[in-house]
Amino acid sequence: MKISRRRCLQGVIAASSSMLLSSCASRRGILGDTYDYELVLAETPLTLKPRTVTPAWTFNGQAPGPVLRVKQNQPVRILVRNHLPEATTIHWHGIRLNNAADGVPGLTQEPIPSGGTFVYEFTCPDAGTFWYHPHMNSVVQLSRGLVGLLIVDEEEPVHFDQDVALALKDWHLHEDGSFAPFTSHRAAARTGTLGNFPTVNGKPELRVPVLAGSVVRLRLANLDNTRVFNIGADLPAQVLAVEGNPLAEPEPLTTHPLGAGMRVDLAIQVPTTPGVHHIVDRKGSFEFTICELEVIPSGLLPRSVPKLPLNPIPALDLANAKRIPLVFEWAGALSPVNHHGEVDAIFWTINKRAWSDHSHMHLPEPLAVLKRGETYIFELHNATPHHHPIHLHGFTFTVLKSNQREIKPYHTDTILLEKNERAEVAIVADNPGDWMFHCHVIEHMDTGLMGYIRVT
Ligand code: C2O
Ligand code: CU
Ligand code: CU
Repeated sequence: MKISRRRCLQGVIAASSSMLLSSCASRRGILGDTYDYELVLAETPLTLKPRTVTPAWTFNGQAPGPVLRVKQNQPVRILVRNHLPEATTIHWHGIRLNNAADGVPGLTQEPIPSGGTFVYEFTCPDAGTFWYHPHMNSVVQLSRGLVGLLIVDEEEPVHFDQDVALALKDWHLHEDGSFAPFTSHRAAARTGTLGNFPTVNGKPELRVPVLAGSVVRLRLANLDNTRVFNIGADLPAQVLAVEGNPLAEPEPLTTHPLGAGMRVDLAIQVPTTPGVHHIVDRKGSFEFTICELEVIPSGLLPRSVPKLPLNPIPALDLANAKRIPLVFEWAGALSPVNHHGEVDAIFWTINKRAWSDHSHMHLPEPLAVLKRGETYIFELHNATPHHHPIHLHGFTFTVLKSNQREIKPYHTDTILLEKNERAEVAIVADNPGDWMFHCHVIEHMDTGLMGYIRVT
């Protein structure tokens, strides 16, 4: 008997027993009894702020979760066990995967109930720095710690002397380590609620030893809900890749803006003289240290920066591209009380429509329906007085132009739109399914700046 993937997985959720999982697996003949990864979501008391305890929500007891490392073009299976007190799903941010593994409740899967399990199976066609996070009750689940890095190693290994990944996340903490409010209507209607306790890999301070003369691949990932980092360094560095995608030519790092959800891979050519250097966040004329790099003497001779192979993003057919305008606006008002007697706060719209994270189960019409194989240009217009890191699931888009910046076309999954910015980005609609399109300031997504496109 042939059972569909969907039925099989739903069976797993309902029973949440490994017995059923393996019998289900043997019938399908694909899943074994082992998983490339197992992620257990649960509440774990963690010491973030010294001498205090925070009731974090964790992957395998950690926040951020473990760095998952997979290989380009090699299938991966990840078993998720939900030991949280509420339902969840996991999304693999930036991966061009099959729609069924995209982790969006109501759109690509049923929520994983408390006590339930789910198996995600996908293959990563692109190498680079990606991440994972829940896509349910996102303000709460991400703020409480459920974020983690997913690194896809190049099929043909590229040799750096050291590979360092830094997950940046600010926490909302009271003095005693308990959680401070994650959101307010006032902040959600503006730039969002900044955290007050910045961490790198879960630590308030980080010093990384690096060998003199070596070339370090430094992956910086903004896993915060809200904050924009302006990444700089006090030693020479090159930008190798943005949002996982290598640039056609590496560029010297000046200041690189990193909105919520965005990543940058740097190549650091470590000086041969001992000393301590800094990776910083620039705010106006101020610099805040993100992490220190301590140069350790070594016998290494300086070498050149290895080249990253480009990811296999399909070629655009711009001459025949169709255009889709997408306008982001500020609604600036509270909606009336809903039928549960709660206020659904809606502050943002895409093409005059809003869809909030609370209503994942009430599916609106797609923002656009795309024909498989065709090229589309999205005309993005940020008609709001705030910036928005705009993200599309399941695709890597090419940024073509902006009315505010000189653009050398590049590939990304998220574009940080400044206020009043108009930009054009393009995709080949080669991946069928329903794909989320939203702002990655989680409070914005939660209050209207969210929709989806359908590729048929
Ligand atoms: Cu990190 Cu819907 O995305
Ligand atoms: Cu995503
Ligand atoms: Cu936004």
